[in-house]
Amino acid sequence: MMSGMIVDKSYQAVTGRKGDIIQQAMGVDYSRYESGSIAFDYEGMMNDTGYTLEDHIRLQRRFNVGNTPIFELHNLTALARKYAAPGKGARIFVKDEASNPAGSFKERRAVASVYHAKKLGYKGVIAATSGNYGAAVASQAAMQGLKCIIVQECYDSHFSGQPEIIEKARKCEALGAEVLQLSVGPELFYEVLMMLEETGYFNASLYSAFGVGGVETLGWELAHQFMERCGRHPDVVVCANAGGGNLTGTARGLQKAGCSAQVVAASVDLKGLSMASDRQFNRKSFTTAHTGFGVPYATDPDHSDVPRSAARPLRYMDRYVTVKQGEVFYITEALAALEGMEKGPAGNTSLAAAFSLAREMDEDQIIVAQETEYTGAGKHIQPQLAFARRNGIQLLFGDPQTEVPGVNIVFPADPGLLQARDADLDHMRASLIRRQATRATGPVTDADIAYLVEETKSSPAFVRKVLASLGL
Ligand SMILES: Cc1ncc(COP(=O)(O)O)c(C=O)c1O
Repeated sequence: MMSGMIVDKSYQAVTGRKGDIIQQAMGVDYSRYESGSIAFDYEGMMNDTGYTLEDHIRLQRRFNVGNTPIFELHNLTALARKYAAPGKGARIFVKDEASNPAGSFKERRAVASVYHAKKLGYKGVIAATSGNYGAAVASQAAMQGLKCIIVQECYDSHFSGQPEIIEKARKCEALGAEVLQLSVGPELFYEVLMMLEETGYFNASLYSAFGVGGVETLGWELAHQFMERCGRHPDVVVCANAGGGNLTGTARGLQKAGCSAQVVAASVDLKGLSMASDRQFNRKSFTTAHTGFGVPYATDPDHSDVPRSAARPLRYMDRYVTVKQGEVFYITEALAALEGMEKGPAGNTSLAAAFSLAREMDEDQIIVAQETEYTGAGKHIQPQLAFARRNGIQLLFGDPQTEVPGVNIVFPADPGLLQARDADLDHMRASLIRRQATRATGPVTDADIAYLVEETKSSPAFVRKVLASLGL
């Protein structure tokens, strides 16, 4: 695309060209949605893709994605009730996304991007991802006949890689993608921008409105399935949360189906571990749906490979809970032992949370955990724990409350010790407001305040209080 020209490929220069590169690589002019102040037109951006919810449903049918089953977990529900007060212990269901062609909900996010890329005449697609999304894009590119490059952070500086990440690289290759494997560091999005410029491929960003719009089918489907099966909507839907697109899309789909279930985010607690640290990169046993992504993306959604992210989870979250690594391993095994079902780590994060939250709810209520992915090879408990042990992590039974990420993994000595813990949502809301307000160049307008209320699902009083604390 840039042949014949001398192009500056320094970090500064490439990231400085981000706006132009993205416009070339997506056909989206993000500047259209800017107000010049804090607010931007989020719904305008979501609606301008040209794909309605009905279009996403139709496309996903065509490319064998979605329409995944729901299952009731009778035995895990009975176990939760043993550890609940009389009359408590909601019915636990899962929505099983592992039956998508490449094994995860991420395919809902890939279908329209790949379709749109082809429609606009791009020869291939590129995606930056540490995992399932790569396989999803590779699968759709194979199905729809486009080339595919996946840029993945795989290794520490000793070329040692997490078993799950290595497995996912292999899966992308098996599905025909070229995988650019990077070591951990800040260069992921820089490499993507450079690849986009060099190849002229489409940016199948995880954070585009094509992608997040595609996840709306998940919430929509779920609401309709419960109406059909139980004659009512669920009370609580637990979403495995990292970059926030899953929760955003699911919640928007639930709303469009008229379902007012409480939307709960769940992440594995990796507090204290830095995602960009070479030493700490391999000291975690979970590669997504953890707080290392969940908290920064919730409080600062726009630090991705697009100027404005379609994933804005604080708009939709009623509650954010964390669970410990040991608790997710425990529920993974309980799911296999009691329900005869093996599912992947990210989804089991939401199941661990649901198992705990069910105990607070009434028996006639319904809680749904999203099982967002398959399991196998590197995602399985055994390779993960062997890798953790090799990296000096202690494995213990006891009270998971005492788990220290990067130091030990504590499996609950008793199922009653499994406990979802509330994250401080107001703290996160204030952090988002602070970040967006301090980036603004002019005075804060009434439209900005209304926008920040929506961004944080809070109130004008809350937004004004945070702004006042900043002297704005
Ligand atoms: C299987 C699975 N579940 C949940 C998530 C979290 O989704 P999001 O990043 O949109 O919050 C991911 C994303 O990496 C995933 O791969």
